[in-house]
This record gives sequence, structure tokens and C-alpha cells, in this order.
Amino acid sequence: MANGKEQNNFNKIIVIDFGSQYNQLIARRIREYGVYSSLIYYKNALEVIKNTKNVKGIILSGGPKSVYDEDAFKIEDEIFKLGLPILGICYGMQYIAYHNQGTVSKGINKEYGFCKIKVEDSKIFKNTNKEQTVWMSHGDVVSSLGSNYKVVATSSNTKIVAFENDKDLLYGVQFHPEVNNTEFGSTILKNFIFGICKATSDWQMSDYASFLIDSIKNEVQDKKVLLGISGGVDSTVAAVLINKAIGNNLTCMFIDHGLLRKDEASIVMERFKRFNINVKMVDASKTFLDRLSGVSDPEQKRKVIGSTFIEVFDEQAKQIGEYAYLAQGTLYTDIIESGTSTAQTIKSHHNVGGLPSNMPFKLLEPLKELFKDEVRNLGRALNLDDELVNRQPFPGPGLAIRIIGDVTRDKIRIVQDSDYILREEFKKAGLDKEVWQYFTVLTSNKTVGVMGDNRSYSYCVAIRAVTSIDGMTADWARVPYDVLNIVSNRIVNETNNVNRVVYDITSKPPGTIEWE
Ligand code: XMP
Repeated sequence: MANGKEQNNFNKIIVIDFGSQYNQLIARRIREYGVYSSLIYYKNALEVIKNTKNVKGIILSGGPKSVYDEDAFKIEDEIFKLGLPILGICYGMQYIAYHNQGTVSKGINKEYGFCKIKVEDSKIFKNTNKEQTVWMSHGDVVSSLGSNYKVVATSSNTKIVAFENDKDLLYGVQFHPEVNNTEFGSTILKNFIFGICKATSDWQMSDYASFLIDSIKNEVQDKKVLLGISGGVDSTVAAVLINKAIGNNLTCMFIDHGLLRKDEASIVMERFKRFNINVKMVDASKTFLDRLSGVSDPEQKRKVIGSTFIEVFDEQAKQIGEYAYLAQGTLYTDIIESGTSTAQTIKSHHNVGGLPSNMPFKLLEPLKELFKDEVRNLGRALNLDDELVNRQPFPGPGLAIRIIGDVTRDKIRIVQDSDYILREEFKKAGLDKEVWQYFTVLTSNKTVGVMGDNRSYSYCVAIRAVTSIDGMTADWARVPYDVLNIVSNRIVNETNNVNRVVYDITSKPPGTIEWE
């Protein structure tokens, strides 16, 4: 585990990462129950588990492979002999069966989505209904089991939906208990963690804050750290944590790439002055906009912005002096969507994908195991004010990914002005507290309209407003028509060169929150 986390005494459940897009959700759910949990890479899992204090149980995650694939992800057999309870989920379940005298075969029907199952009295299904709905996503199925196993759930398609082996402490479920769509998902995970592993809830965010501060102190010692701040919750929480750990050895650099929201730069500088943290502000908007000129491919834009960030940092850092670490407020969601050694790339988040491989410094990413709402809780544990903690997320590449196609100063102005109106009206209507993220997008399409008595041919702006818990999935917000009406009128009347406003009604998946 990163940062010497294994040295603390919290009860722990270790989740071995076999590559499912949602597997950090398992760890995060367990943390919600007050038990520390983190995800580890499958390749050196045995060593990590042995070096971690107070492990109470292990979960093998789902993943895209079949146990029969030549390049199937494998763990050391010794893990089964540690005497720790192991729960396998989906691929993890098949893995347990296959490596312990069972067989796995291709399912007759692949099962994706909701599925009804029937369950037996068992430890895993304690306090749940005899018939229940679960969320499945699999092709292969477990078709036979070794001795000491008991089948504890079936479906009309699948004979072995869950098993228990109390003698060897091996448990498996074919479905995903970590997903909200599984009716008794939380109860099932709790049955494993508390009932079978006998873990106790001894962890909370404020412990994690002190723990992160100690880990940063240990790792960095008296070296210098440079942190890029954007003014958002993530980099601000990272700045406060690192500042508490190493004080003035932290210098924050606030690069204005010219793609910020209206008035953002001055608001951010004011806040950091209050925190008493060293900040250097750099106006690099001309460099960024020159580099972006004519670039319209979304991935290319992210890469250009990412590498320009590093370059500008490097140049500016030389003026600050030597530094050994570049810190970033990278979250788990940024990492998983950028692709990991086990999961596939959805989109390159600029603070992950654009970094060159030959960096002259180490990375320090204290928030990389957390989801957005966990970072907000961490901010609360650090006594940061509500306005900052509840601030909606803003992507590193800024408005560049809210302008479809190439980026120009005039297009940036349109997004800034329309977004400002949207934020003002959402605040007036009290929606700023309900809606997780909301912004405008310049579709870069021009449409015909009529203004006064004249024909107009101007841009169409889209409003994106979503509800979400962690940004991994999202639904479009049911914003009252009256509010949309006011916003639309104001945008068309007050934003030069815009004559049409549309509302985006796509959830994630299949869409993403940002348009690029
Ligand atoms: P998507 O568009 O991937 O967004 O559904 C999920 C959340 O992540 C934010 N986002 C980013 N954040 N760097 C960031 O720091 C990025 O490159 C980036 N791209 C998307 C997005 O605003 C949403 O909250």
C-alpha cells in the first residue's frame, strides 16, 4: 500500500484488484462502515498482505478476464493458506472455485443487469430475503465446487450464484454487492466484514487525516514539495494536508491556463491568503491558448494541457529552487478512468494522462485512494469552510473540455459568461446544494434564430446539470422548468453570440458528465 499505510493498527480489509471498473467502490463501501479498506495490485498481493498490520479479511474483486485466459490475472496460492476469510466477487468467485478443485464454464446466457436469485440460510445472506434482486455482469459461471463447499444461492440461469466454505473460510458471490442496484448489497458486505471476518469499526475520516499527515511527513521529510492548485476541493484539501505536514516546505503554484471560470483566479488567491499557505500565481494563458490553437480532438486537448502544465511548472519551479516532489490532488476516479494496469481507459484525466514518463521529481498524491465525497469529508475533518467543501468539481483541463472542438478566446468568453449566469440562478433557486455539478457547454454549433426583427446565426449553448454521489455514475438533474426558463432567457439575452440553449438529458453511463 502507498505511503506506508500498512504501519497503522486499524482493522483492515484488503481488496485485490482484478480490474473491474467499479472495484474501488468495494473499498469505499467498507470505509463507509468504519473499517479501513484499500485496493491493492494483484501481482504482489501476498507480500503486501503479509506486510500489512491487522488484516481481517480479503476480497477478490471482479474483472474483465476469464480464468481460462492465457493472460488471466493470478495471485499467489499461498494467499489461500493465510487463514484469513476470503470473499470472491464475480471473477474473484470464479477464481476461488477454479483454484480450489472447482470448475468454471461459459454461461449459457450471459447475465448483465438485474437478476432475481433464491438464497439459503447462510452467513453471507443473513438478514436478507429468501428471494432478492442482485446486479450481475458476467459471461462465465462456476459449474462445480470442491469438497466443503455449500451452494447458498441460485438463479434461473445459474446453478451456483453464491457459495460458502466455512472450513477454509472461502466465500463467493457471482453478483456485485458493492453496486447500489443489488438490493441487499450492503448487508451482504457487512455480513462478510463483521460476521465472518469479525472486523470492528475503528476508523473514521479524522483518523485518516492524521494518518495522511504522518505519512506525508515520513515520506517527504525535509524536502521541498511543489503543488499545483486549481482552487477546487481536491487540490485545496491536498494543500492543507501537505501544509500541515511540512509547513513552508510546500509551495503551491496556481497556474492560470486561461480556461478558468469567470473571476476564479482572484477568488482562489484570496482564499489561500487566508490559509497562510505559500502560493505563486502564474498567468500562462497565452502559452496554453497558443498550444491549443487548432486542436479539436478531446484526448489531444487533454494531453496538450497536461504536458503544458508540466512544462510551465518546470520553468516556474526553477525560479522557486529545487523541489523533490510534485504533489497533485488526484482522486481515485481520475486514476481509474485514465486506465490502470488492470482497467481500461475511458478518458485521460489531465492530471494523470498528460505526464511525461521522465519526470525529474516524484509524485505525491495523498488523495489517490479517495472518491470525491470522501475528499469532502476529509475537508470537513480538516475544518475547511462549507463553501469550499461543497464546491462543485471542476476539471483540470478547465473550460477547454466544455468547448466542443477548437478553443478560442471568444468561445471561452461565451462559456464563462453563460456558466456565470447558470451558477447565479442555481444559487438563487437553492439548487446549488442539491445538484452535484452544473455548467454550460459550448456545442460549437451555430443555429438560426430571430432576434428583434433580424435573423441571427449564433452559437447553441448546452446546460449540463447532474446528480451523483461520486462522479462514477450520474443522472441528469430534474431542474424545474421555471429555473431552466430563466437561465435560458438570460443566457440568450446576456451572452453575446448565443441564440439557443438546450438541456442535456443523458445519464452516465452511457454519457460522461463532461462532454469531452
Ligand atoms: P466525467 O466527464 O469523466 O467526469 O464523467 C467525472 C468527474 O471528473 C471531472 N473531470 C476531471 N477532473 N481532471 C479532473 O481533475 C480531468 O481531466 C477531468 N475530466 C473530468 C468531471 O468534471 C466530473 O466531476
